[in-house]
Amino acid sequence: MQWPDGSGNLTELASIHLSRLEGMVNKITVVGAGNVGATTAQRIAEKELARQVVMVDVAEGIPQGKALDQWQSAPIEGFDSRVTGTNGYDETAGSDIVVITAGIARKPGMSRDDLLKTNAGIVRSVSEQVRTSSPDAIVIVVSNPLDVMCHVAKEATGFPRERVIGMAGVLDTARYRAFLAEAMDVSVRDIQAMVLGGHGDTMVPLISYTAVSGIPVTQLLDRTTLDAIVDRTRNGGAEIVKHLKTGSAFYAPSAGAVQMVEAIVLDQRRILPCAAYLEGEYGESGIFLGVPCKLGRGGLQKVIEVELTAEERASLAQSAEAVREPMRALAG
Ligand SMILES: NC(=O)c1ccc[n+]([C@@H]2O[C@H](COP(=O)([O-])OP(=O)(O)OC[C@H]3O[C@@H](n4cnc5c(N)ncnc54)[C@H](O)[C@@H]3O)[C@@H](O)[C@H]2O)c1
Repeated sequence: MQWPDGSGNLTELASIHLSRLEGMVNKITVVGAGNVGATTAQRIAEKELARQVVMVDVAEGIPQGKALDQWQSAPIEGFDSRVTGTNGYDETAGSDIVVITAGIARKPGMSRDDLLKTNAGIVRSVSEQVRTSSPDAIVIVVSNPLDVMCHVAKEATGFPRERVIGMAGVLDTARYRAFLAEAMDVSVRDIQAMVLGGHGDTMVPLISYTAVSGIPVTQLLDRTTLDAIVDRTRNGGAEIVKHLKTGSAFYAPSAGAVQMVEAIVLDQRRILPCAAYLEGEYGESGIFLGVPCKLGRGGLQKVIEVELTAEERASLAQSAEAVREPMRALAG
């Protein structure tokens, strides 16, 4: 059957719709309807990664208002993911994926670790609710200090490591790639890179694995320029906080979280730098640290171990120590 405007037929349209539905899960919850959370929900809806996108926040009216606003953009943007907002967990029941962005953000002059105790309390209570309402969910943690909050979420949910993964490396790597592309005046798409380690000043950008369409970056940029880019990447979050004065980055962080969501929903088996719970990989156990991960159906499918230079190994060990320190502070 032809439409009056002559476009397509019903069978064709039905099959397009079906294939779109196949590429989505039923429900994704985003906890925290602040800057990162709301932008994450919007990106998930615009990419139609779930039939329902639920935003939860303790602030009354905020998730409801933002969700309604986003839903009203659906006819314009052309997505059918239904976005709703709530202050409770009933509506989130049975979520396939839960992205945790609840917490307070860094203020100027405040280190990520200053956030430690407040955000640990928030992430613990959120994770306990997730355990009850969505026992089979895959949890992606965004709240800072990231690596420690992942640990809190894993303990409070009791989920296996495949289902608790932290977002930081994707963001740090995106910043690194953006700065490299800018310095070389090339497309960001052609920069392959990985930033490992904890999400903090001790993160480890791997120069030895940085390439531009396969060409080692060391052949294209001198060491001084590269070192300056690595330094700027390490301070990428603080640079934005300094500009904004209140609040911190959220466009790139939400894009990072959604890239992980997409890899899982579409079973893309992407290799992305994520905070994973290590069980001996890279000589570390019992902590979350940024390492190359294969993400697909079920969440974390594999932690990939790559060879590191002696300098990179030492930096990673230092980064692991910087994650252990706040964990001890939290336990003490
Ligand atoms: N991992 C990363 O790379 C990365 C990047 C950017 C931001 N972050 C972190 O993400 C978090 C959110 O940042 P933001 O800019 O969106 O902050 P924001 O202040 O805009 O939003 C945080 C939201 O969490 C809500 N909230 C507080 N307690 C809650 C609870 N118990 N349950 C549900 N919601 C609760 C607040 O009401 C607020 O709306 C911060 O911890 C920030 O440091 C991490």
